[in-house]
Amino acid sequence: MRRVLAATAVSAVIIISGAVIAQASHVPPPTSVTSWREHDRQSAGTTLIDVVTVTPALGRAVELQERVDGRWVTRATMRLAHGYTAQLDVRLTHQWTTRPVTWWRLHVPATETAAAVTSAVKRVEVSWEASDDPASFQVLVNKERPLDPVDWAPSALLRPDVAAVGRHDQLRPVAARALERLTARAHDATGEQLVLVSGYRPYGYQHELHARYLHEHGAAEAETFSARAGHSEHQTGLAADVTQAGVPFTDFGTTSLARWVAGHAWEHGFVVRYPEGAERLTGYAAEPWHLRYVGKDLAAYLHRGGVATLEEAFGTGPAPDYAPR
Ligand code: DAL
Ligand code: ZN
Repeated sequence: MRRVLAATAVSAVIIISGAVIAQASHVPPPTSVTSWREHDRQSAGTTLIDVVTVTPALGRAVELQERVDGRWVTRATMRLAHGYTAQLDVRLTHQWTTRPVTWWRLHVPATETAAAVTSAVKRVEVSWEASDDPASFQVLVNKERPLDPVDWAPSALLRPDVAAVGRHDQLRPVAARALERLTARAHDATGEQLVLVSGYRPYGYQHELHARYLHEHGAAEAETFSARAGHSEHQTGLAADVTQAGVPFTDFGTTSLARWVAGHAWEHGFVVRYPEGAERLTGYAAEPWHLRYVGKDLAAYLHRGGVATLEEAFGTGPAPDYAPR
């Protein structure tokens, strides 16, 4: 009995010492990542590329990670195929355009023959540029920037599958689909029905509408809420005036549905274009009912960056009034 116990103890010592020997002979070589820029400033719509060198390379995974709410999230994994060192094009994915500032790093996990390494943290600042192309989701239309040509019309329009009042119930297809999704989510969340009041308005109709408001209210007042023909976002087919079913659109701002829309429109690519307190920047009094489709990335950028207006997002400066004629 005593002899058996002794034999077990000896073999245990051998196993432990074997493990120690194996570890000691397995120290992986250091790993390096070079040429990773620590600061980038770039315009949305372009691709941000770093060409980095990873050593040793062969067969290793390289994770492109973004810091989100204090955690590192892997956005892409690249495989290094060749040689002891390898050059790698690291292209940032579209996430870097949806916040004014983002932080990125490269992480190379350890392999049996190489240690793990993490690069320095790259800070990326992004700006968005206003487009002059009336067909672009980033077109900036305000009192200083008319559409070009001034009587431009979208090539495709359709009626979104939402409740609507009035004749001007069409939008460009991408905005129409986005409004359908926003309306459905609004109904799920609040039980209330969002109604389209005015979508695409052609140059000629905007001219009539503006003339009528001038006549009824006088120029000084009318121009705080009505755009001249060629200066209205409604002519792009990307703007939608909405309200709650049964509520005049001018009272929409008093509803809890308007609060929900203000908080969630960005998730569907819309911004509330004329917010409270931004009259000097946009040229118009607050219009909680006027939504403008700008695409999900730019809408997210405004929301997450706390940027209230397109004039600020694009850095074009305020557009309080028309240029003298
Ligand atoms: N109400 C907005 C400013 C327009 O007329 O386009
Ligand atoms: Zn409007």
